[in-house]
Amino acid sequence: MQPKRLIVTYAQDRTPVHQDFLACLRTYARSRRAELVVVPGMYKNPTSRFQEQYEEGEWAEEVEPYLCDERRQLAPNLVLYGDIRVQPTASRPLTGFEVFCSGHSAIIAHPKRALETVPTATRMPRILSTTGAVTVPNYSATRAGKRGDAHHILGAVCVDIDAKGFYFIRNVTYDAKTKSFTDLDRRYSADGVKKAPRAAALAYGDIHVLKWSKDGKAEAGARKLFDLVRPRHVVGHDVLDFNYRNHHDTAFSSRYRKALLLVEDEVRQTCHWLRDMASWGTGDHEVHVTRANHDDAFDRWVEAYDRDRDPINAPYWAQRFYDKLMGADNLFASEYKRLCGEVPVHFLGINEPLVIKGTNCAFHGHKGPNGSRGTRQAYVRLAVKVIRGHGHTPGIQDGVFDLGVFGSLDHGYNTLPSSWANAHCLIHEDSKRQLVFVIDGRVCA
Ligand SMILES: [Fe+2]
Ligand SMILES: [Fe+2]
Repeated sequence: MQPKRLIVTYAQDRTPVHQDFLACLRTYARSRRAELVVVPGMYKNPTSRFQEQYEEGEWAEEVEPYLCDERRQLAPNLVLYGDIRVQPTASRPLTGFEVFCSGHSAIIAHPKRALETVPTATRMPRILSTTGAVTVPNYSATRAGKRGDAHHILGAVCVDIDAKGFYFIRNVTYDAKTKSFTDLDRRYSADGVKKAPRAAALAYGDIHVLKWSKDGKAEAGARKLFDLVRPRHVVGHDVLDFNYRNHHDTAFSSRYRKALLLVEDEVRQTCHWLRDMASWGTGDHEVHVTRANHDDAFDRWVEAYDRDRDPINAPYWAQRFYDKLMGADNLFASEYKRLCGEVPVHFLGINEPLVIKGTNCAFHGHKGPNGSRGTRQAYVRLAVKVIRGHGHTPGIQDGVFDLGVFGSLDHGYNTLPSSWANAHCLIHEDSKRQLVFVIDGRVCA
């Protein structure tokens, strides 16, 4: 099929456009040879201060050349629903579309940013995404209106479709301070396109070293993203899989096959990979490892070690047990220091904050408030910007961005259907976040 690129946003009727953001969108469309698509939406606002300027069902004339109110099949598995108008005050604009958009991914125009990754019977999950808006906030003085106003995003989704039909969906957000938006390594403004400053951070989807993909494409794509944006900080979740003594291995046959594996080997390989990653590029980025459940499996193994069931690991266990007695509370951290201490990596302590450009990056996501199980909803209620790992299912809801996974989408225990995907989150220098999927070893086309 013919490769194509689009940038899709939403415009409310009887509402002025944000001139600067529209200029940025035009720059993007021109420089990337992308089609600018504006989906028209309607909203009744009797208290609108723009009431007199427009007729009912009229859109700002600047967006008229780009309006699209039709359903368009953009790729074999991707549909743009220009014909569906979701109330702009809807708090969960994608609700119900999982079933409605059966069999394909979908873009639904809406001023609130949201993204869901929906399970499928293959390892290719479907993505549902909203767009953000090009019109200024214009909501009624009601509870729903005020909430809509608070979640209104000047933004769009970039869609790249390659000749094989693979598609790449990336959200972009306008930054009022720089009067621009950033997509990957490029900053688009009314004045043109420039190389973006280094990204503030790249939070990788759960890393799980040793759970690599067979073809290596997911890992190659993750590395390409690093080289593209040259982040100042890299955040890693579930870096140590602890696969050799994994709590997911409940079957005796699996434990039998792993009986002769040395925990020390996996810890060493993981530490070496982490050291290499901390040296990527010019090595002037800071690496942070969150306090995650798979890393903690190392400590739990030492605490609950059964020498009769696992004699081969007895010498290593004895040394690490001694470390524990001497006060080590994070064995992955202490082993990294022992094995690779020449290249520093920051291991977060329990409850240690990590805030980068206003986004909290410290929560792995396995724990919720007061030690309960972590759910996305629980983090949404914090009402702060959060990037979270653990679920391996990328998504965006209110202030919460959920990461995907770094390598293989099949960890053995996660049988189909599956919603796991390779996705990472950037924090750009302007503080705006961008979820980036790795498809076929690439992040764009
Ligand atoms: Fe994980
Ligand atoms: Fe986890």
